[in-house]
Amino acid sequence: MYSFQSLVFIGLFTTLSCQQIVSDPLTAGPPLEVVHLYYDEWPTGISVDSSSGRKFSNYPPGLDANNTNDGSNNKYTVAELIGNDTERPYPNAEINNPPDGAINYTTYPPTGANYANYLIGVQSIVLDPLNRLWILDTGRAQTPNGTLVAASHGGPKLVAVSLSNDSVIQTIVFPPTVAFPDSYLNDVRFDLRPSLTASGLGVAYITDSSLEGRNGIIVVDLGTGESWRHLDGTPEVRPERGFIPFVWGTPLYQIPSPGQPLSTIAFGADGIALSASGDELFWGPTGGRYLFSILTERLRDRGLTSEILAQAAVVNRGQRGTSDGFETDSNGLIYVGNMEANAVATYDPVNGTLSTFVRDPRISWCDTMSIADDGYLYFTNNQLWRSQAFYPGTDRRERPFALMRAKLPGNATRVSLT
Ligand SMILES: *[C@@H]1O[C@H](CO)[C@@H](O)[C@H](O)[C@H]1NC(C)=O
Ligand SMILES: *[C@@H]1O[C@H](CO)[C@@H](O)[C@H](O)[C@H]1NC(C)=O
Ligand SMILES: *[C@@H]1O[C@H](CO)[C@@H](O)[C@H](O)[C@H]1NC(C)=O
Ligand SMILES: *[C@@H]1O[C@H](CO)[C@@H](O)[C@H](O)[C@H]1NC(C)=O
Ligand SMILES: *[C@@H]1O[C@H](CO)[C@@H](O)[C@H](O)[C@H]1NC(C)=O
Ligand SMILES: *[C@@H]1O[C@H](CO)[C@@H](O)[C@H](O)[C@H]1NC(C)=O
Ligand SMILES: *[C@@H]1O[C@H](CO)[C@@H](O)[C@H](O)[C@H]1NC(C)=O
Repeated sequence: MYSFQSLVFIGLFTTLSCQQIVSDPLTAGPPLEVVHLYYDEWPTGISVDSSSGRKFSNYPPGLDANNTNDGSNNKYTVAELIGNDTERPYPNAEINNPPDGAINYTTYPPTGANYANYLIGVQSIVLDPLNRLWILDTGRAQTPNGTLVAASHGGPKLVAVSLSNDSVIQTIVFPPTVAFPDSYLNDVRFDLRPSLTASGLGVAYITDSSLEGRNGIIVVDLGTGESWRHLDGTPEVRPERGFIPFVWGTPLYQIPSPGQPLSTIAFGADGIALSASGDELFWGPTGGRYLFSILTERLRDRGLTSEILAQAAVVNRGQRGTSDGFETDSNGLIYVGNMEANAVATYDPVNGTLSTFVRDPRISWCDTMSIADDGYLYFTNNQLWRSQAFYPGTDRRERPFALMRAKLPGNATRVSLT
């Protein structure tokens, strides 16, 4: 028999359970369109030439052993996207297939192959304002058991390809004092203004995100091919100790190498973007929340006290969220991922604050961004944290991986520093 009190309780419960509790809308911003689905290799980079409609991606063997060229001649580390679901090796199959593969097994332990005229392990591809596709080769790849081998001289390099004839037009090989054997050349930005250097052919800035810890910023004179480092080992290019992001509700721990104890997220300086003027460089470690910047003249300086001045010039812009690649639009906004909110955010240097640009539950890991002349932000959405390099060590990624895009705010478009 029900007591009066329990009948009141049941009545109350029924009323309460009918109430709508306000909840997270999970989406915000402009519509997010799926542009390309990757069914084959696992992508990171994207670059879009909207005048021709051509799109390019890269597939790093340094983060996925199944991207490693094993000499079977059926892999690629750079590809052109064909239709909305197919890729073909770019600029050709031959350069993507070093003789005997990307790894030199005659050394002990195995090392990256030393070819300057073949691609070993590409982490980023970026179209410059002159429509040259620059390929950033780490020179590193994983063995089948997931061990990341060290680079050999010849492997780490920047390679420029002309889109007009799909031919290599320039190769800049980094000396081992600039790209260390355990460096991981992650991402690159270009400023081609002639006034920057004596050679007048512009400059590239590169992040070294190495998990092994020798992080820094590399500067390249595109005219002379010389390169140098700044901010080596400073806290601003290093991961934060104990950094644990949550993505899709999951705390992330890394497996640095097969069989090794877990670490917190230990990628250093990764995302990189120039201000719309080219006078400032923004970057952030993936293993950390802060956004940093520096005047680019401090990085180009190679004088006696240039490193002292560079370290004194670093600006902490505050927290940005958990992100990988960055991008810049013509209104001066800096785009950063905010993976913990399934989002892409913008940082406005004018008022110093973040805004949410787009949110969507499908955003799993906004890896690399590329703004095209068509006024869209393109980004690869690649489930990085579900790979076997993250706890619990099983591969939980599900194909297809996606290329997505969203219309930029304020009629913004791409920045062209020439
Ligand atoms: C690589 O491919 C093999 C065979 O398709 C699969 O068993 C393995 O899980 C894949 N590994 C990764 C890291 O994707
Ligand atoms: C890809 O193109 C095909 C044929 O044009 C179309 O049916 C399909 O919906 C497209 N897929 C995506 C993801 O846009
Ligand atoms: C492999 O390593 C050996 C020994 O250092 C070297 O002689 C050879 O040139 C290397 N080959 C490649 C393709 O890296
Ligand atoms: C993984 O493979 C490499 C290269 O073949 C080998 O040197 C290393 O001992 C292996 N590591 C483990 C944990 O099996
Ligand atoms: C390809 O075009 C570039 C100009 O974009 C030119 O410098 C180069 O010589 C051409 N290469 C070939 C093989 O035609
Ligand atoms: C900062 O500027 C952006 C526009 O770039 C604007 O959307 C945002 O509301 C501003 N934030 C504050 C706190 O004023
Ligand atoms: C964007 O362009 C449209 C059409 O040219 C114009 O009506 C609108 O005012 C512009 N918006 C901004 C924020 O400039």
